[in-house]
Amino acid sequence: MTEVFSDAESLNQAAAQLFADTCRKSVAAQGRFSVSLAGGQTPKRVYELLAQPPHSAGVPWNCVHVFWGDERYVPADDPRSNARMARQALLDRVPIPPEQIHPVPFAATPKETATQYEAILRAYFTSGAPRFDLVLLGLGENGHTASLFPHLPVLDERRRWVAEVYVQEQDLWRVTMTAPILNEAALVTFLVAGANKADVLHEVVQGPRDVSRLPAQLISPTQGELRWLVDRAAAARLSRQSR
Ligand code: 6PG
Repeated sequence: MTEVFSDAESLNQAAAQLFADTCRKSVAAQGRFSVSLAGGQTPKRVYELLAQPPHSAGVPWNCVHVFWGDERYVPADDPRSNARMARQALLDRVPIPPEQIHPVPFAATPKETATQYEAILRAYFTSGAPRFDLVLLGLGENGHTASLFPHLPVLDERRRWVAEVYVQEQDLWRVTMTAPILNEAALVTFLVAGANKADVLHEVVQGPRDVSRLPAQLISPTQGELRWLVDRAAAARLSRQSR
């Protein structure tokens, strides 16, 4: 389902509301809320809104367990760290027990980092499948999501939950959850804003399937729901049926 908002701020407000509602429902049903956060710029304002009234008071933060769909292979205090951004915007401002925040570690190598994060996830999801209640994702102008970048071998990964990827354009290692894991979620929500995303959003949502070039097309929850929250600028090229 694609929902179009008049501007980025209404999109952010709706995303914060969706986070809070999904959290309350999950906690009522199973006593905890497992969420995977996105990096990049788009979700930052959503995290800031969650740290403020009314959400700051309406979310059962003591039942929230936070993970990241992807991370740059950098130390925790590096300005490029997704966890650092989320801590500054949200996690340092709300009463989540620190042991319920599960950032991607910065281990000796990218591969070791991926192995350690997968072990963290397997220890948390003891019943087997990593069924997040909510996965937030962004969309890159080149069709990537999380750190599933075009034409990389990680797109074919079926066995590992977490993998290391080298992104040549950025000369940077990253660590990412793989598509099969993201697709186990009960709800996956893409947040997409800005005119610079209009072409790629159109291609990913309405274009022919070409997952090697447009990895975001790999995201299709096996038993869950997929929602696209987009602003009008990003939706400019979508035809009406998809809205
Ligand atoms: C990251 C990501 C990445 C991001 C997209 C969109 O660590 O960069 O998780 O997949 O979501 O690149 O980023 P923007 O929201 O900044 O456009």
